[in-house]
Amino acid sequence: MILQRVLQYAQQLLKDNIKEGDTVVDATAGNGHDTLFLAQLVGDEGQVYAFDVQKEAVDATLLRLLDHGLEHRALVLNKGHEEVTQFVHKPVTAAIFNLGYLPGSNHDIITRPNTTIQAIENILKLLKVGGLIVLVIYHGHPGGKEERDKVIDYVSQLPQKYVHVLKYAFLNQQNDPPFVIALEKMKEHPIQ
Ligand SMILES: C[S@@+](CC[C@H](N)C(=O)[O-])C[C@H]1O[C@@H](n2cnc3c(N)ncnc32)[C@H](O)[C@@H]1O
Repeated sequence: MILQRVLQYAQQLLKDNIKEGDTVVDATAGNGHDTLFLAQLVGDEGQVYAFDVQKEAVDATLLRLLDHGLEHRALVLNKGHEEVTQFVHKPVTAAIFNLGYLPGSNHDIITRPNTTIQAIENILKLLKVGGLIVLVIYHGHPGGKEERDKVIDYVSQLPQKYVHVLKYAFLNQQNDPPFVIALEKMKEHPIQ
């Protein structure tokens, strides 16, 4: 397979950008797959900040980290990602979002457009020049299309001098396949 699958592509972007010692954010910890992946990339000198509004997700993420002996590399917070600037006070190299609901859990607890956009805006302020925000957009569930459209509207109007915005999507897959939006910070915005 030459074209990378969406999740592979998202992880590749993170892998290409994150070095040992970096500070990174998992904005939607869920079952902790991305938190673990990030913890493996940042090494013992780095730090992952992981956010989730569900205690169940925080516990699952901590358990996954413990299973791999990497719990010391991550701070897993039972908080909304929109509050990121209250907890992260260092320049961030990369952040990942998986929008939607926690697989195998309550499908009514989903990421929401306003808080997602607030979190993206806040992480853009914390992001280093050259840093990345990767969004994996699931939109097949109730509420998913509204969030998809609002997030696309928001990122599409970001000035290209300061942020490059990419969409990576398969156009002929059935059943609302997820796709990636990646934001690369090019320059500090003067009013941020
Ligand atoms: C698609 S799941 C994440 C999957 C996860 N990356 C994994 O590896 O399992 C989305 C998660 O976002 C969480 N969530 C919803 N609103 C949130 C918010 N405002 N801040 C942080 N997490 C939120 C949900 O509780 C859910 O666990």
